[in-house]
Amino acid sequence: MRELKILAIVIFFTLVTYWGVEPFAHSIMHPHHEPATFKYEDLKPLNKKGDPKRGMKAIVNNGCVGCHSIKAANVPAPMDPVTASASYGVNPPDLSLAGALYDEKFLANVIVNPAHAMKLDHKFGDNKPFPMPNFYGNAQDLADIIAYLKALAKHQQLTPKAAFINACGRCHDMKYDNWYVIGPKPKMDTELEKAEFNLKHAQYQANLKNYLGTNPPDLSMYIRSRGEEYIRDFVEDPQKLLPGTAMPRVGLTKEATYQVIEYMEKVGDRKKDKRNFLGAWVLLYFVIFSILAYLWKKQIWKEVE
Ligand code: HEC
Ligand code: HEC
Repeated sequence: MRELKILAIVIFFTLVTYWGVEPFAHSIMHPHHEPATFKYEDLKPLNKKGDPKRGMKAIVNNGCVGCHSIKAANVPAPMDPVTASASYGVNPPDLSLAGALYDEKFLANVIVNPAHAMKLDHKFGDNKPFPMPNFYGNAQDLADIIAYLKALAKHQQLTPKAAFINACGRCHDMKYDNWYVIGPKPKMDTELEKAEFNLKHAQYQANLKNYLGTNPPDLSMYIRSRGEEYIRDFVEDPQKLLPGTAMPRVGLTKEATYQVIEYMEKVGDRKKDKRNFLGAWVLLYFVIFSILAYLWKKQIWKEVE
C-alpha cells in the first residue's frame, strides 16, 4: 500500500513536470510562432497567363542572362562565382530549377521587386541598391518568363541536394557533404591548389559579408541544433523568427522546403533512422527488465515474510 502511494506521488510530479513546467520553460525560451503555411499572403498573385514558348526571348530581352546561368537550357554563367560575388555580393543562382523551387506567386514578386519579396527592405534602399534590379518590363513578359521556368523545371528531377544547392548553396557551406559556397571542393594534390581554393573561398566569404553584413553559417549540423520545425518556419519567413536578420525570405514551395530539410537530415543526422529503430528495442528492454525486477522482488520478499 505504501509503495502504491509512493508510486502515485512519483507519477504525479512527473506529469506536473511534463505538462506544466517543461512547456512553460519552453514557451519562454522559444516564443511561440505560427507554423509555416507557404501561402505568401502578403504578395500579389500573378494575374496573366504566360506562354512558355515566348519565355526564353523575354528572359534574354530583360537581361536576366547577364547575371544568371540557365544550364538546363545551355546558358552558361557569365562569370565564375568569386568574380560574380565581387560584383553582386553573392553569386546569382542558376535558374534551371527556379520553376520547381519557388512558389509561383513568390517568383513573380521576386522578379518584380526582389528586396521586397525577400523581406530585405530594411537592408537595402536608395543608398544601398539591391544587386538584382527591379523588373520594369511588361506584365506579359513576366508571365511568359514564369511559364517558361516552370516548363523547364518539369523536365528535370528536383533532388534534395539540388534543392539545397540552388536555394541555399550560394550563401551557406555544407562542409560535411563537401559543399562550399564557391562549389564542391575538388580532389587536390598540391598544397598550392589547396591554398588557392581556400583563398577563393575566403574572398567569396568576404564579399558575402560585405553584402549581408554577416557571414551565413555552415549548415552541416543545423538540423540537429535547430530541428526540422524551426528550419521549415525559418526558411518560410526568417524575419518572423529573427527580426532584422539579413537572411532573405527564399520563397520555396512546401515540397522544395521538405527536400532541403531531407538533405540537411541526410548530412547532419545520418544516424537518425538507426536511432529511431534502436529506441523501440530499448523500450522493449525496459518492459522485460521491469517484469523481471518485479518477479525477483516478489521472490525475495516471500522469503523474508
Ligand atoms: C544585375 C544582375 C541580375 C539581373 C539582371 C537579374 N538578377 Fe536575379 N538575382 C541576382 C542576384 C545577385 C540574386 C541573388 C540575391 C540574393 O540571394 O541575395 C538573384 C536572385 C534571383 C532569384 C532567386 C530568388 C530567391 O528567392 O532566392 C531568381 C528566381 C532570379 N534572380 C530571377 C531573375 C530573373 C527572371 C531575371 C530577369 C528578369 C533576373 N533575375 C535578373 C542578380 C540578377
Ligand atoms: C542570400 C544569402 C542566403 C541564402 C540564399 C540563404 N541564407 Fe540562410 N542565412 C543567411 C544569413 C546572412 C544568415 C545569418 C543570419 C543572422 O545571423 O541574422 C543565415 C542564417 C541561416 C540559419 C541560422 C538561423 C539561426 O537560427 O541562427 C539557417 C538555419 C539558415 N540560414 C538556413 C537557410 C536555408 C535552409 C536556406 C535555403 C533554403 C538559406 N538559409 C538560404 C543568408 C542566406
